[in-house]
Order: sequence, then C-alpha cells, then structure tokens
Amino acid sequence: MKKESFTSKWGFILAAAGSAIGLGNIWRFPYLCGQYGGLSFILVYLLILLFICNPLMVAEISIGRTAKSNCVDAYKVIGENLGLKYSKIWSFFGGWFAVIGTLMCLSFYFLVASWVLYYFLESISGDLMLIKQENLYAEFDTLTKSFSTQFSNGLIFLLITSIIIIGGVRKGVEKTSVCLMPLLFCIFIILGMRSATLEGAEKGLEFLYTIDYKYLGFTDEGYDITLLFDTFTAALGQAFISLSLGFGILLVYGSYFSAKDNLFQAVRHIEFFDTCAALLSVFIIIPAIFSAGLPVSSGPGLTFISLPLVFQNLSGGYIWALAFYLLLMLATVTSTISLFEMMVNLVMAKTKKGRFASVLMVTLLVLCGFTLVTASFSGVLNIKIFGRDLFSLFDWLVSTYTATIVSLTMALFVGYKAMKPIIHNIRRSAKVSDAFTRYFLITLRYVAPVGLGLLLLMAVI
Ligand code: PFF
Repeated sequence: MKKESFTSKWGFILAAAGSAIGLGNIWRFPYLCGQYGGLSFILVYLLILLFICNPLMVAEISIGRTAKSNCVDAYKVIGENLGLKYSKIWSFFGGWFAVIGTLMCLSFYFLVASWVLYYFLESISGDLMLIKQENLYAEFDTLTKSFSTQFSNGLIFLLITSIIIIGGVRKGVEKTSVCLMPLLFCIFIILGMRSATLEGAEKGLEFLYTIDYKYLGFTDEGYDITLLFDTFTAALGQAFISLSLGFGILLVYGSYFSAKDNLFQAVRHIEFFDTCAALLSVFIIIPAIFSAGLPVSSGPGLTFISLPLVFQNLSGGYIWALAFYLLLMLATVTSTISLFEMMVNLVMAKTKKGRFASVLMVTLLVLCGFTLVTASFSGVLNIKIFGRDLFSLFDWLVSTYTATIVSLTMALFVGYKAMKPIIHNIRRSAKVSDAFTRYFLITLRYVAPVGLGLLLLMAVI
C-alpha cells in the first residue's frame, strides 16, 4: 500500500494546528486560568511549553518522520535499525499507551462535542437568548442528564468525523484543516476584539495581567510548594491535551510529513497558533465574564452556563453567540479528525485492510466507548470507578497518566537511545546548531523526565 502524505508543509502545519486547537483551548484553558489565578497559570504554562513540550513535540514528530510507520511500530523500526534489545517495551509504553489514551479521549471528546452542538443549535434557533438567567444552570444540568440528546448529538459529530477521514490524508484531513483554520482564526479575532471592548471588561483584563503569587506557592503564612505543584500539574496536563502531545497523533502526522521540510519551523508555527488560540480564548471569555459580574472560577460550566448570559446581555448577542459556538464546532471537528486518523492509521497497518473498512471498525469501537461514557455520565448506567463516572475517569487518566507516560517514554527513547537518527533526520531539512542539540539533549534527558516523573508521582501519592 502506498504511504500517504501531506501535499505541503502548510498542509502539515494546519492539520497539526487543527488537531491542537480544540475544546482544550476554548473550553478547558479559560476555566483553568480562572481557577489558578490567571497570569500565574499562563506563566507556568508558557515555561512548560518552552522547557518540556517544545523538545517533546520535535521528538514525537521526528520519531514518526524517521520511522515512517504507525505509532506502535515506529519504536520497533528505529530500535531494530539501532540494534536495540528491548524495542517491544518502548512500543508498549510509547505506542499502546498512546492508543489507549486516544481511545479514551475520543470517547469523552464526543460527549463534550454533543454539548457544543446543542448550544450551537440553540443559538441558531435563538432559544439561547430566551433562557432566563436563573434557568441557565438547570438548562445545562438537564442536558447533561439526557442520554438521548447527548448521544444523538455526539453521533452526528462522530459520523461527520468518519466521513472526513474516509477522504484520506490529503482530501480529508488536510483539505478540511486548510479550509477551516483560517475561518477559525477570523472568528477568534473578531470575538476577541468585541470582548475586550465590553463595558467592565477592564477588570477581566486586570485579572489576566496580575500575577496571583498564591498559585506559585507564596502565601501570607510562608511558602507552600504544594500550591505550585497543583498549578504545575494542571498546566502540564493542559499542555499535553492542548498540543495533542503524547497521543501518537503528532507521530502519525510526522510520518506523513516530507523529509525535506523544515521541522523546527513547523513546530514553532504549531505552538504559536495553539498558544494564540488559547490566549485569545482567555481574552474572549474572561473579560466577558467579568463584565457580566459572574464568578470566573466556576469551572467547566464557564463556557456553557456563564457565557450564554454574557451573550444575552450584549447588543447583537444573537450573532456573537452564533459565531462563538460555530467557532467551537469547527475547532472540535479539526481535533476529532486527528484522533480518528491516528486510530485508522494503526488499524490499516495492523489489519492490512483498506481505509474504508478501517474507518468503519474505528467508528464502531469509538461508538462503544462514547455510548458507555455518555450512559455513565448521564446516570443511565451506574458505572463508577474510583468514585468517578467514566467521563471524569477518562479525562483524569488521559491528562494525568497516558499522555505523561507516552511523553516520558519518548523523552527517554530519544534522549538516551535514538538521538543520532533523530538529529540526522532533523538535519536533513534544517540547520541544527550545537546550542540546539545541547538544549534538546538536556531537556529530553533531564528536564522533561523530572517534570513528567513529578507529575506521575504527585498523581500516585
Ligand atoms: N488538542 C485538542 C484540544 O485542545 O482540544 C484535543 C486533543 C486532540 C487531544 C487530539 C489529543 C489529541 F490527540
């Protein structure tokens, strides 16, 4: 079977940025900022990007580009070329954990997607503007308790994703990303400008410009490192989800990426777009919430409970609501296709079946996961593990364990075993200075493992 590939560097960048920019940026990042002190959280997040995620992203993409294989076999291909003894172990932790993480992520991502579709439809019909303030919470609560609405909405998203993926890498993933991403950024910028000029928005901007030292560990009673750890853990988990790092997706996209194109530049662009999207989301949501006098630390309900109220009180609110939930829809689709493509790529390689049959198998598998998560979340099925329903269990397992374990494996694999072929692969398309090689080596060998190890340790104890 001929290996598929992107047509150009920009095809790759926009597809990877499309994967990165999603509900994680627009829904998760703002509420975490609200909960962890605004600028304090943003600063910790940016430092993590520079010292942990940037080298890991280069590592993940170049593992894929060097091996030109799926996320499980890539470690074996490189390992066998290097004569490594325990390639299977790398494949297990780097590959199969990525598969499990992606499956769990898909299962709960379609549930959140179903809320997005619900609010989008409500904003089209205009009903969203009519819900009374005191009923907004009940509206969201009723939605999350309704199995049938969530299931049918999620199913629509699932089918749209499957149809796009049947189109393949160029006609499906790349074309969709190239069309949707510019539109997405236009909506982002227009909404950002509107939000920043709202009456009372200055308080939100002030919140975003002020460091709350408590979240860095400084309290009136002295220094408390656990507070910094909490912020660090939340920011690191968010960075993985936001950049789609440690899910095998960048590895698979890397295998479609031409060896002649500059990988550093591509990574810089992806990170830039993703961070802009996260910051723009914060600048859209937080000032709007402040201007409406609502609590900024209200957690996951921020996008679905607090924002509708903001739109109701805005002149032209109907249009702004429509634009916002359309933005969420587009961002969701570009992310679900990447998760799906990673699974389809693996199933095609392992079963030797064509794309259509593989998409069908993955669709059925994801449908099972999504149905279980929705049933457990809405209370139709009483499944609780570690006291959590399947939605919060999967979200917790993915952001704390699977992505971390996969990233730790990649850091150790490239840092200690495969530095030579990886640097060789990067050098084919870009000049690599000694300073970069040192930064790459030190971050992958020491900084990332310590950071990721700490995260795992904190999660276990
Ligand atoms: N990066 C996406 C977001 O921020 O919403 C979510 C995501 C997509 C996570 C793809 C993981 C992934 F593999």
